[in-house]
Amino acid sequence: MNLRSNFPVPIKKRVRLCRHTTFGIGGPAQFWAEPGDVSELADLAAWCKKNRTRLRVIGAGSNILVADRGVSGVVARLGAPGFTVVRRAGERVIVGAGAPLARLVAFCSRQGLSGVEFLHGIPGTVGGAVAGNAGTKDAAIGDLVEFVIVMDYNGRVSKRSAADIGFSYRCSGLEDVIILQVCLKLVGRDPGAIRRRIAEYAAARRAGQGAAWRSAGCCFKNPRGTSAGRLIDACGLKGRRCGSAVVSGVHANFILNKGGARASDVLMLMRCIRETVKKRFGILLEPEIKIWR
Ligand code: EPU
Repeated sequence: MNLRSNFPVPIKKRVRLCRHTTFGIGGPAQFWAEPGDVSELADLAAWCKKNRTRLRVIGAGSNILVADRGVSGVVARLGAPGFTVVRRAGERVIVGAGAPLARLVAFCSRQGLSGVEFLHGIPGTVGGAVAGNAGTKDAAIGDLVEFVIVMDYNGRVSKRSAADIGFSYRCSGLEDVIILQVCLKLVGRDPGAIRRRIAEYAAARRAGQGAAWRSAGCCFKNPRGTSAGRLIDACGLKGRRCGSAVVSGVHANFILNKGGARASDVLMLMRCIRETVKKRFGILLEPEIKIWR
């Protein structure tokens, strides 16, 4: 069967995912698609289901490590205008899953809507952030969600309220669906005060995490009651390297790509970190980044 000519939407073959991840690491996607709207995405999902081809959706690629040999199946990006609209509805904002968080934060700041300032500087999309309930120590995007419009892998669209979703630390329970649109409940506030909060978050992030090299943010989830970064640091692992993958000297929960790192380097370094922390503290760190293989 000629898979390519049978696809319901235009596709590209063997697209290098290192170009679509903040790590700058990863082999090719067998097929790459950018559906133009929800109906094209539904057709693609239905086609993949029928042809037993795996469909994955990629956001900004800021929380994934793609294997060096790449992934089979279809990787779809929701970057078309229909997936990235941001609009205000009273004190709520309805935003497409493909919209970058930066655009959401800037929009809310201009509109005098407060609540999303802590998302400033996280290099993800709204859909990716909601899927992983992204956030900081004190806030997560799930706290703001009123409802989410999702599509299942048969192409059926439905609405899930926050109560049905059940967000928890770095987890949404929405792994089995594609997030299309999100409604966030915010509060009106003076735009100047919002800008000041954003600047505070930006300064704290610069000081605490640094930004000189490519990474996928924090590699491991925080164990209950402590910080993975603190534990890794206490093991003396800052600067530990496997190939060109290096534990950040600024924040020990960040692995940096110091140029040409391979996924296998990162995986080996993650294994070394987990073993060392387990030995020293008896705690097995759980990866926060998603590994695509
Ligand atoms: N710490 C160290 N050494 C380090 C890193 C941290 O001793 O190398 C100590 C800090 O001094 C601080 C404590 O550990 O006392 C906590 O550090 P930090 O404030 O950096 O927070 P974190 O728990 O390491 C979490 C999130 C980050 C988020 C920050 C800021 C997780 C896994 N990480 O980090 O999220 O930016 O809080 O609120 O939940 C991400 O998810 O990718 C991410 C970066």
